[in-house]
Amino acid sequence: MRRHLEVLGLTYTGEHIEEHLAWARGEHPAPSVLLERILGEEAGHKLARRVERRIDMSGLAERKSLEAFDWAFQPGLDKALVLELARLDFVRHTEDLVVTGKSGTGKSHILQAMALRACQQQMSVRYAKCVDLLDDLYAGLGDGSYLQRLRRWAAPQLLVIDDVGLGQVKKRDDEPTAAHTLFSLVDKRHGRATTAITSNIRLGAWGRYLGDATLATAILDRLAMRAIRIDIDGPSYRQKLARDRAKERGGKLPDDEEPRAPEPAT
Ligand SMILES: Nc1ncnc2c1ncn2[C@@H]1O[C@H](COP(=O)(O)OP(=O)(O)OP(=O)(O)O)[C@@H](O)[C@H]1O
Ligand SMILES: [Mg+2]
Repeated sequence: MRRHLEVLGLTYTGEHIEEHLAWARGEHPAPSVLLERILGEEAGHKLARRVERRIDMSGLAERKSLEAFDWAFQPGLDKALVLELARLDFVRHTEDLVVTGKSGTGKSHILQAMALRACQQQMSVRYAKCVDLLDDLYAGLGDGSYLQRLRRWAAPQLLVIDDVGLGQVKKRDDEPTAAHTLFSLVDKRHGRATTAITSNIRLGAWGRYLGDATLATAILDRLAMRAIRIDIDGPSYRQKLARDRAKERGGKLPDDEEPRAPEPAT
């Protein structure tokens, strides 16, 4: 039997077959119940491994969840809308999503949680901070792999470009500028696959950040055409965490002495 399981690639069952048989000897299940148990556990194990592989490939460094999100802290955020979006129909319909708001309001948390759910639903996902995505593409200019890299970023069903506006986008004298690179990517994906973006700068400030106002407008035109928009106007959870930590240490951080943006990304 072990040989059959090996040939069939049922390694999990191979490792647990003695337990299954011992269970069957004790419980005397109907043959179909025993088969259901053995195949169910093998399928469950394979599925879990596939999800783990998707998470590994996605570039998600953290596993945020909406269950861990403190909705009461952010009352201005439309919880029903976020939960509806987390069902990921907008990804199936290739709609784009733009989440804006001040620093620390949970934009990255929400999109990281959605990206994780997409992995769990067996979707192809890539997640990157905007500066890291641009760095990866720029690296391709040096070794001739730019187009290949662009195609790779263009392929997944869900691409999360996190933290547009945070960090320093490298200034380039030659083409393509950051705006040009991002434009190529958004244009390639537009209407074919979902791009979800977070930004803590006003959309009107994207031009200066990306180094080209006209192309930044072209990006936003594409996104604005069909994108779902969420703006989180509320307090910073990062500052709440800092206050909690200060309190724990016995120190004080008065409300009016909160640090000003830009803050380090977590
Ligand atoms: N309502 C919330 N409930 C629980 N944790 C939260 C909430 N909002 C934010 N956080 C946590 O606070 C930290 C900062 O949040 P996050 O990185 O999502 O903010 P952001 O809006 O993306 O900020 P930035 O614009 O600086 O990138 C993260 O660790 C996140 O998990
Ligand atoms: Mg963020």
